[in-house]
Amino acid sequence: MRIVAGIFFALIFHCLKNYNYFCSRICETIILLTHNTQLFMKLLQGKVALITGAARGIGKAIALKFASEGADIAFTDLVIDESGKATEQEIAALGVKAKGYASNAADFAQTEEVVKAIKEEFGHIDILVNNAGITKDGLMLRMTEQQWDAVIAVNLKSAFNFIHALVPIMMRQRGGSIINMASVVGVHGNAGQSNYAASKAGLIALAKSIAQEMGSRGIRANAIAPGFIETAMTAALPEEVRKDWEQKIPLRRGGSVDDIANVATFLASDMASYVTGQVIQVDGGMNM
Ligand SMILES: NC(=O)c1ccc[n+]([C@@H]2O[C@H](COP(=O)([O-])OP(=O)(O)OC[C@H]3O[C@@H](n4cnc5c(N)ncnc54)[C@H](O)[C@@H]3O)[C@@H](O)[C@H]2O)c1
Repeated sequence: MRIVAGIFFALIFHCLKNYNYFCSRICETIILLTHNTQLFMKLLQGKVALITGAARGIGKAIALKFASEGADIAFTDLVIDESGKATEQEIAALGVKAKGYASNAADFAQTEEVVKAIKEEFGHIDILVNNAGITKDGLMLRMTEQQWDAVIAVNLKSAFNFIHALVPIMMRQRGGSIINMASVVGVHGNAGQSNYAASKAGLIALAKSIAQEMGSRGIRANAIAPGFIETAMTAALPEEVRKDWEQKIPLRRGGSVDDIANVATFLASDMASYVTGQVIQVDGGMNM
């Protein structure tokens, strides 16, 4: 008993003698723990993202990247078939909540409905990516009214539909990040794509206008202008057209869907909290 008491008092004496040393060790441990918690915090932890046209291609890559950074994902596409369900499962496998919704982004009423359903299911919506898009190329002399209307409706009106439905929600939340998927042809134009280029230029001007209208409410809006990205959309191009594109790219390769997803993740995250009304060209330096 005396030995135990001796050891106890010796320990107390030692602690008191080294009081300063122990205090500084405790402080160091607290700083280290805080720092490590920040390191392990994912960029989009706790956020809900809504991505249109994300069953495949660039939209799907964005959904997967956002999910890997901790965001819950609601995505839309024209139909959620087997491959859409597979996308949903791939996203959920990253440990987040994921749900695909069949909805035509060009339809105002369907958009209102789907946004309401997503808000009910997920509780809040912090990030919107207007990604759904189509091409119906042709020179102006041969372009039909249908070709023009379809591209403007799916690429541009869809973004109006979603922003219109989401802005009241984001205003109540006092913040949000909107990303419009434009294109380098929306900045520079492209022969044979006047409908597509006009729709993408519209998406850029839409993002800038929303940035000005909504900045004071904490809502940011930006556009990404991808160059030549390897997806189903570009796989359909003839080999010589693809080669010609690649020759014009200083980095000498087409972009990957992940190149776009990385920039989208930055814009969606608080790392871009002072970035709004911008167009980021992700094109391997094709247009400078
Ligand atoms: N691939 C490129 O090189 C490239 C370059 C610049 C810009 N973009 C843009 O990036 C976006 C994604 O392109 P992608 O290459 O992944 O194309 P993609 O064709 O592979 O994917 C587009 C997705 O949008 C969906 N979609 C089409 N119409 C829709 C509608 N009305 N409502 C809901 N969903 C709809 C499609 O079903 C598809 O899943 C598009 O806006 C496109 O214009 C692509």
